[in-house]
Amino acid sequence: MHLTADQENMLNGENGEVVERLFRLLVRLGDIYGAEQMIPVGSVQVAGVSYKSIGDPGLEFLEDFASKGAKVKVLTYLNPAGMDLENWQELGFPRDFAEHQIRIMEAFRQMGIVTTATCTPYLAGNLPRFGEHIAWSESSAVSFSNSVIGARTNREGGPSALAAAICGVTPNYGLHLEENRKPEIVAKVDAELAYNSDFGALGYYVGKQVKNKIPYFKGIGQANTDQLKALGAAMAASGAVALYHAENLTPEAGRMDIGGLETIDVTQGDLDETYENLNTGELPDIVILGCPHASLREISSLAAKVKGKSLKKPIWICTSRVMKGAADRLGYIETIEAAGGKVVADTCMVVSPIEEMGYATTGVNSGKAANYLPGFCKQDVVFYNVDELIRRLAQ
Ligand code: F3S
Repeated sequence: MHLTADQENMLNGENGEVVERLFRLLVRLGDIYGAEQMIPVGSVQVAGVSYKSIGDPGLEFLEDFASKGAKVKVLTYLNPAGMDLENWQELGFPRDFAEHQIRIMEAFRQMGIVTTATCTPYLAGNLPRFGEHIAWSESSAVSFSNSVIGARTNREGGPSALAAAICGVTPNYGLHLEENRKPEIVAKVDAELAYNSDFGALGYYVGKQVKNKIPYFKGIGQANTDQLKALGAAMAASGAVALYHAENLTPEAGRMDIGGLETIDVTQGDLDETYENLNTGELPDIVILGCPHASLREISSLAAKVKGKSLKKPIWICTSRVMKGAADRLGYIETIEAAGGKVVADTCMVVSPIEEMGYATTGVNSGKAANYLPGFCKQDVVFYNVDELIRRLAQ
């Protein structure tokens, strides 16, 4: 791989031990994937933030780097943490867990990382431009930035994203290259897509079919950015789709040639069956929305739906601290809390220890959450649209 003089210096340890170790990791990755050079990144999003995911070894690794003076070179955000960093006590997160999580956040802060912990950084102040090279980790954020924004990122692991943040570059391979962004299969959709959960079911179904290929959707019609984030998140979870194109909806679709590609048909029956397969429970102990983290539009819509109601069981909506602040100023939080709900920031149902908090059956409207909750959190899942979930909470 061709390295610049500055990069040779990083490799030779002239910028310190941490930079050397992390730059070596990037060079190794580049060698494995045949990158010819490093490219500067505009921003980074680092996964591996929850104490539940990284445990003591991850915490020690981060504290070691922070104590050696490691600092990021570009705008860097974090994936969701294991708890709401302000309201963890009120929400019932265990104290021991909280103490470890706080140490993790402090190590990141010392490295100059913005401790906004979210899988929707593009809604919270980290918005790349079309064509910009970035190094993001969380699979739904990777899908959204590649597909809906048209930025360019591979799906980074926690260490390679941290390396990109501290070195300011990433190896130029995979989805950074124009030739690797072409569709490989067409998904022709003939089904009703009314709710965000329908997009989650569609994404789950197509992800299972196409695995790690790049799909090109026809027939979706209209979709807002919340629905496109639900679609991409589910596809990245059931398959390994890091980029999709959708006719008349995503920015690179118009310049893609789909002639001669294999086509899969997606029918209403396929989506109905997906709902059926993902449902393993009947009545939820708790409903958790906001996977990926909710936009202001989603919080506002929930507030309108629960206004004046008194819910028998809890409903949470997960979001970034930034969106929570905006929702607070608009009175949505007051409305949701008056109905018995909570707007939970910094975390999500999958990376928080909900199984230790007395919940066994969780209701979700996200195909991605429905995919992960049984394995990660030992939950039975109730997967429906938000209206049906609220109806079931009342039973
Ligand atoms: Fe985000 Fe957690 Fe879902 S990280 S995409 S809310 S599983």
